[in-house]
Amino acid sequence: MTLWSGRFDITPDPAAFDFGVSFGFDRALFEDDVTGSLAWAEALGAAGVLSPGDTQAIVEGLQAILEEGRRDPGFVSGPDEDVHSFVERKLVERVGEAGRRLHTGRSRNEQVSLDLRLYLRRRIPARQAGVAALVAACADQAERAGPALMPSYTHLRRAQPVLVAHYFLAHAAALRRDHARLAGAAGEADALTLGSGAIAGTSYPVDTARLARALGFSRVVSNSMDASSDRDFVATFLYAASLAMVHLSRLAEDLIVFTGEEYAFFELSDASATGSSMMPQKKNPDPLELVRGKAGRAIGRLTGWLATMKSLPSGYNKDLQEDKEAVFDADATLDVSLRAAQAVVSRLTVNTARTERAASGLLLATDVADYLVSRGMPFRRAHEVVGALVRQLLADGRDFSTLTREEWRGASDLFGDDVALAATALASVQARRTPQSTNPDAVRLALDECRAWLASCS
Ligand code: ARG
Repeated sequence: MTLWSGRFDITPDPAAFDFGVSFGFDRALFEDDVTGSLAWAEALGAAGVLSPGDTQAIVEGLQAILEEGRRDPGFVSGPDEDVHSFVERKLVERVGEAGRRLHTGRSRNEQVSLDLRLYLRRRIPARQAGVAALVAACADQAERAGPALMPSYTHLRRAQPVLVAHYFLAHAAALRRDHARLAGAAGEADALTLGSGAIAGTSYPVDTARLARALGFSRVVSNSMDASSDRDFVATFLYAASLAMVHLSRLAEDLIVFTGEEYAFFELSDASATGSSMMPQKKNPDPLELVRGKAGRAIGRLTGWLATMKSLPSGYNKDLQEDKEAVFDADATLDVSLRAAQAVVSRLTVNTARTERAASGLLLATDVADYLVSRGMPFRRAHEVVGALVRQLLADGRDFSTLTREEWRGASDLFGDDVALAATALASVQARRTPQSTNPDAVRLALDECRAWLASCS
């Protein structure tokens, strides 16, 4: 028995019917489906479509179903086509004939969209909390690193010295955009679809504005036809989740490289690593590799979903059922990946001896050029002078710190005795002036600002 079997005189072919059954995954919408139905029953009651007695029976029946489903997840199962059919079957079992009146003026098309919107509104704050926890782990690392220095890279070649704290706050900055993007996705899902009917709108005088308020929506959709197939909010969520996964993947890639023997800037905790079944010396960064790998999965969900949407004719089409597994999978992927990344970052230790050694040497060339500029030389000329000096040092296997006074002067008579002081990693970071720079005072302020942000989102 399905919600639509009255129209047909033979039972469906299992090969076709089972293919369309969604209860195996849309049971995740159980709570949202009952919540939406409770509000719909009240709205029908308020509009005089349901008698007070029927309204009360339905509301009490749904509340009991919700409680039972929360208490025992195994309860939410059966031969039903989807979660909507399941809830209705249980309702009729409980309250009899009144239960058959619940679906008056409503379609599963608007109902399933409503459920998914409610689901996202419920889940997105939890993902945002996961993002904030990882930002907090980055902030803690920044705090702990204090004045420690490390090289920054462009083209994966040493570029300029930065504070280790600046490095961790760089990742935090990207994650904070993810937090905001997730809020945007929740905002897009924040519209009531009920009242749209199957496509043309409902013919019962339901107060949709009041219904929206009852369900915590800030607005009602503007067009019933659009609403029946609009899943832009799904695409937006998948994009927000994918970009967050891209950021986690880049963080993971950095840490895989920086914790390896060649760099050894950071040390992975034994608790965040795995061994090899054959090579006893190995300490593998499996959790980070899995985070990096799972980014591909989230991106696949996004591109897969965009491909599903692109050829749909106006109005609801069953293709839209694919939205749910995409959302559930991307949501679960982001959830576990955030937890893994947070666990790894919070237990990392910084090998300051290694980072500081790597932060000195020829990557101070820009500072040496800036020194000449401060003595009046045009930058382009200074770049040439220092470039030639670097070429010579490289040939000799030396760096700036070994240059004698005469050698400096030989390169340019603008070099004074104080150049040796300017050409250190510490002087380099202190020379930065802008608020977004790695200047230690700027980084301190950035860390304070990050802490204030964390406090504001908890
Ligand atoms: N399981 C369906 C979905 O996820 C529910 C909506 C069904 N509507 C319909 N007209 N068949 O989209």
